[in-house]
Amino acid sequence: MTRELDVILFGATGFTGRLVAEYLAGAAAREQLRWAIAGRSRDKLEALGLAVPIVVGDALDAAAMRALAPRTTVVCTTAGPYARYGSELVAACVESGTHYCDLTGEVPWMRRMIDAHHARARTTGARIVHTCGFDSIPSDLGTWAAQQAFIERFGHPAAVVTGVYGEQGGGFSGGTAASALDLMRAASEDRGVRALLANPYALDPDPAAPHPPAPDETSIGWQPQLRMFTIPFVMAQVNTRVVRRAYALAGQPWGEDFAYREVMSLPGNLRGAAKALGAAGGLAALSFALRRPALRERLARRAPRPGEGPSAEVRARGHWKLRLVAEGPRGDTLIYIASDRADPGYGSTAKMLGESALCLARDPLRSPGGVLTPSVAMAQPLLDRLRRAGLVFAVG
Ligand SMILES: NC(=O)c1ccc[n+]([C@@H]2O[C@H](COP(=O)([O-])OP(=O)(O)OC[C@H]3O[C@@H](n4cnc5c(N)ncnc54)[C@H](OP(=O)(O)O)[C@@H]3O)[C@@H](O)[C@H]2O)c1
Repeated sequence: MTRELDVILFGATGFTGRLVAEYLAGAAAREQLRWAIAGRSRDKLEALGLAVPIVVGDALDAAAMRALAPRTTVVCTTAGPYARYGSELVAACVESGTHYCDLTGEVPWMRRMIDAHHARARTTGARIVHTCGFDSIPSDLGTWAAQQAFIERFGHPAAVVTGVYGEQGGGFSGGTAASALDLMRAASEDRGVRALLANPYALDPDPAAPHPPAPDETSIGWQPQLRMFTIPFVMAQVNTRVVRRAYALAGQPWGEDFAYREVMSLPGNLRGAAKALGAAGGLAALSFALRRPALRERLARRAPRPGEGPSAEVRARGHWKLRLVAEGPRGDTLIYIASDRADPGYGSTAKMLGESALCLARDPLRSPGGVLTPSVAMAQPLLDRLRRAGLVFAVG
């Protein structure tokens, strides 16, 4: 593809968009990147003070999105909630064979995009890659990398991988709060959305086909290899679906019975047990509140506004660590670590989305078009890029 631009960053004026813009600006000289920022407000885009072209278009204006997409090899978008603002841009990228990456974790919207566009994107060659941030690159690319390491060590793939999210610090932004609240509103109003969210195979090519049971974790548990308590992880209902889609799209490379589960860990001592009880109670209370319209609206009033997010100080103290426990059929075990010394949702996510856009624009990839996951679309080239950007992906 020879296009006027390599990357258009759409939604550059938002909280996360500004961080991704900063990241791409830092990489531009090294990558000899021809890139532009885009959004609905020229004034706000100009106020960013970046010496790059500006493209103006409203996400809800299908013609504007159809004009924007063919100008670039890749569209990278942070304009969310994506179920509100994302559909026209995905459709335009699919039609023009433009690669695309975003930060959505909205499973019902991803399902709609798969149903509407996967087959067509195969034809046009557009790689449409959702979940290119903290949701779900560590789980998706981490599982892929853990399996490569496992095969190298034991000569066969792991039958079960458990993603154990541990120590982390950071905050959340207006767009993240709005996405979560929109999703809970949709779930409380629509039984079909509730059923989809509860389906462990919601993002599989055929979510209604028979699959092995894969229940979500709902209670306090114990992780024997790590000797840690576990509780449900808030993002597992997204990440596990993405890992299962990756495995299905890749043609079940780790055997028919491969299973992925995901939890959050707490120390395996008395304090950890007390924390596990408190956190499990807190999660149950949050989930109860989000399902009640009046409580949900009270939470919405206290949440950060669009454009707001954690301060630079909070982000500077941020960090995260995922331990992937890979187990083979004969008890062979390997622990694989994915981590970063940056806050998960913003500092680290800006690197992950920025490098995904660069990878789609620059690297020789073998994947076909389609609605893909990060590991299916980019695998080793993205892993190499993220390591160079300072993230750890390594045997523990
Ligand atoms: N997966 C992850 O790990 C992760 C991490 C961080 C964020 N996210 C997701 O990223 C998204 C953005 O979050 P955020 O906090 O950065 O949101 P935000 O600050 O509210 O920014 C939203 C962006 O969307 C733009 N926008 C809104 N309506 C538009 C329209 N009609 N046309 C064009 N642009 C429009 C806004 O433009 P204006 O400035 O003109 O209003 C702004 O640039 C959310 O969906 C969030 O869940 C995911």
